[in-house]
Parts: sequence; C-alpha cells; structure tokens
Amino acid sequence: MAALGREYPVAARRALAARELERPDDALAALVRLFLLAEDLPAERLDAALPRLGAEGALELGLIEAAPAGEGLLRASIDLRPHASDADAELWVASDLGAHQRPGVLRHDHVLGIGQASLTLAAATIRRPAARALDVGVGCGIQTFHLLAHCEHVTATDLSERALAFTRFNLLLNAEALGLDPLDLGARVRLLRGSLLEPVAGQEFDLVVSNPPFVITPRRAGEDEGERFTYRDGGMAGDTLVASLWRDFATVLAPGGTVQMLANWEIPEAALLDDAAASDPVTGAEVPGWAGRPAAWTPEGVEAWVIQRDVETPEGYAETWLRDASETRDRAASELRYAQYLDDFASRGVGGVGLGLVWLRRTASGAPAGVGRRFETIEHPVAQPLGPTLGESVWRLDAVASAQTELVHAVVPDDVTVETHSRPGDEHPQAILLRQGAGLRRVRLLSTAEAGLVSACDGELPLGSIARAVCALLEASAPGSGPSAEELLASARDLLAQGFLRFLAPGE
Ligand SMILES: C[S@@+](CC[C@H](N)C(=O)[O-])C[C@H]1O[C@@H](n2cnc3c(N)ncnc32)[C@H](O)[C@@H]1O
Repeated sequence: MAALGREYPVAARRALAARELERPDDALAALVRLFLLAEDLPAERLDAALPRLGAEGALELGLIEAAPAGEGLLRASIDLRPHASDADAELWVASDLGAHQRPGVLRHDHVLGIGQASLTLAAATIRRPAARALDVGVGCGIQTFHLLAHCEHVTATDLSERALAFTRFNLLLNAEALGLDPLDLGARVRLLRGSLLEPVAGQEFDLVVSNPPFVITPRRAGEDEGERFTYRDGGMAGDTLVASLWRDFATVLAPGGTVQMLANWEIPEAALLDDAAASDPVTGAEVPGWAGRPAAWTPEGVEAWVIQRDVETPEGYAETWLRDASETRDRAASELRYAQYLDDFASRGVGGVGLGLVWLRRTASGAPAGVGRRFETIEHPVAQPLGPTLGESVWRLDAVASAQTELVHAVVPDDVTVETHSRPGDEHPQAILLRQGAGLRRVRLLSTAEAGLVSACDGELPLGSIARAVCALLEASAPGSGPSAEELLASARDLLAQGFLRFLAPGE
C-alpha cells in the first residue's frame, strides 16, 4: 500500500500474484486489481468476486465500464479503497482514478482520492466534540467522514458538482459505519455547492476544516474555468485563494470556534534570508520573515498558530505540480508551463513557497486566548497523529496564560531528556539541549541557569522559589553572569508553554 501510495504498483502486483497462487479466484485480489491497480478483468472473475451485485450490476451503477483492450474485459471507472475511520469501522471511499492508474492528463474536474495532504489534515485535526462543523472543499468526503465521529452536524461545501456527488455516494455507501440514516442524510450532513465561504455566509460553526485548492498556479490570459484542475487550483493568482479564506474564516466562526487548514503561502525573496524578520501588523510584534504575509492575513480578534513544515523553491514547486497532473509527458508543453511558473513567481518577487498547517481561533470575551499569534517552523518529523498533540498544546498555552508562573509546581514530562555536548577535555559542557521524545519533538538550547531550574523541577517547590535559589547560587559563584529571577521565570513560562515542563497534576 505504501509503494502504491507513491504511485509504484509493482510491489502490489507481486503481493497479489503470491495470493492468487494459493487462491486463483481470490475475491479481494480481484477487487484490488480492479479498483486500486485499475487493471482489466474478465467479467467472470468479477461475477465471482461480487456474487450479489455481479459485473452487470457494477456496470449499471457506473462503477465499471467495458475495457477498450478486449471483448469481455471490464475495468474500473472509479477508484474504490478501504480507509480506517475514527468510527472504528472500515470505510470504502470512491474517488476518480489517478494518473498512475489511468495514464493521461487528468480530467479537469478530477475528484481527488485520499492523498497525503488529506491524511495530514485528518491526523492534525483536534477531535474535540463540536455541535456544528464545516468542511470547505469536501472532495471525496474524507474530512467529513472523520468529523462525523465527533461533531453532531457537518456542512460540507465544494465548487465541484462532481465532488459533491462522490461525497454523497460515499456517505450512502458507508452510512452504517458512519452512523447515518441513508434515508435521512440531512439529519447529520448537509452538502452545499458554491465557492469558498459563499454557501455558508451568515452562519456560524464551532469547527472548520479545509484542505483547500491551495496550489499556486500561473494564470493564462483568457483561460476558462474548464481548463483548471479544480481539485487543486481555485483559479486565483498566487496565494490569493488561501489569503481570502484565511481573512474571512472569522466571519463563519462561532465565538471560541476554531479552523484547521492546510495552506501554501508565497515568501518574498528578501524574507528568506536567515535572520529576516517581519512585523505582525495587529500586535506590532516581530515574526519570522516568512510569516509576514500570513500574519497580515490574520485579522484582529483571531488567534493563530501557523506551523511551517517545509519551504519549496519556485523550481521545486513547478516540478511537483507539473508531475501531479501528469503534465510532464509532453516535453515541449511541460517546459513552456514550467517557464510560466517561474515567470509568475518572479513577477511577484517570490523566492519560495511555505507549506504548512494553520490553526485559527475566534476569540471570545472571557474565553481563554493563550495561544495568541504564533508563527513557528517545524521541519523535522513529528509524532503522529498530530491532533492530540496540538490539542494538548492549545490547552497548555491557555493554562500558562492564566497561571501565576511563580506559584506553579512543575515537573519534567517523561519524554523529555537532557543532552550535554562538550569538546574533549572540557570541564563544563559547551551546550545543554532539552529534547522532547514525543509530540512536536522540539529541541531547545538551555542556558546554565535554565538547566539548573529544569533539573530542580520535581514538583516540590514552586517555580518562583526555584528561580530565586538558582539565581542566588549563580550569583555566588560568578557574580553578574546569570539572569535575574524575573528573567528566569520568563524562561520557565516558555518551557511550560512549549511542553518541556508540565503542571504537577492535583494529587500527584
Ligand atoms: C485539495 S481538494 C481537498 C479534498 C478533500 N477535502 C481532502 O481533504 O482530500 C480541494 C477541493 O476544493 C474544491 N474547490 C476548488 N475550488 C473551490 C472553491 N472556489 N470553493 C470551494 N471548493 C473549491 C475542489 O473541487 C476539491 O474538491
């Protein structure tokens, strides 16, 4: 499955051949060959694999079609694959066949299957119970299926009629596993056609998720809608679609409601320099250079936590997206299109494209707002699924914001270890690192005073006492070299916020 996910079918074919050696008529092998590998199969093999529906029935439903290769051969007209859901049941999810299954440029209204980005968003979503959820750009329905496990009602929107039809088909196909009444889908799900937030204007949701068509695509003079790959390209210039969704999300959020989405953002050339900084127009605070534009898209009254997972060069970006829709097959056309990508980025002075995860929350009076506006780069692998980690982090940031740090009794979480690095012959370590083995797997360089504070955090004394004691000891051994107790307490707050320390639980 992993190799197939990377679009290499050889390993899957070998596994199927081995299975068929023992059971030549194996039904599962036949269905995998049909719907995942998109191979042609004789009608008799399908009749045996689908004893109730039969090849005739599948033809009538439009799930399969006659294969052009030969008389009596049939092939899939869609991809249909199992997907493990939160509902503790396996789902069967239909989508369009990809370019590795049905060679050629994709149809422009191609409905994306469950891809890496879909799984990333599903795994990163904080699964707290919510009354009303919204899925913008539903595609084959994957985010909606997961939302149904913890939200009372889900509204799913898409610009594409074909995507909504696939979602509806999948909801009906999996009604039992998803806990839906197939005769009354509307009790739990609503499917709306329209662009971005247009279909839900004036409504409010507790949780919004979106894997939007964020791919930055060079615009062509006189292009028409039918030429675009709707699954990835919203038809706007640069990252305008993402920016507009990001700015407008607050208009459909209930107070305290959150958004989780995947996004790409353009980074101006100058902002890619190592020490480049920008300013957050709302708070005036300094943010990393790449975050200048995302910060400007975050309106007042909205908290943001943006995690940049990767930065792509303009060339790398063009190559990824030309390959994605098999546009690389015609060399001349592909080179022309590649040049258009580079011209497009150059016309706006773009030096790179940031890819990442976005969490937004509409602030409400009296509600916690400890996350604030955070723009952070985390490029290393993190523990999966990420959702529970993000949920705990938000909880912790809210708790730290309302805590009086000096009174907090803190301990070091089990996954946190310390590393010291020294040159041969050194008396003292040159670097002390604190490392998280779980969650976001952050690593943080500690000063001597911070290292002293962390090692004394066994829950016994409050942080204020520990900070004062550590500072007094440092002052006695090397006067004027250490931080003040207030400065060390500020570090302790940060260590708590990042999960290098945790609150001692009541009764612990
Ligand atoms: C990348 S796919 C995501 C599909 C699915 N939610 C997932 O996570 O895999 C983006 C979806 O957005 C839809 N879309 C494109 N332009 C849109 C627009 N202007 N408004 C709403 N949806 C749009 C596409 O049809 C497509 O289904």
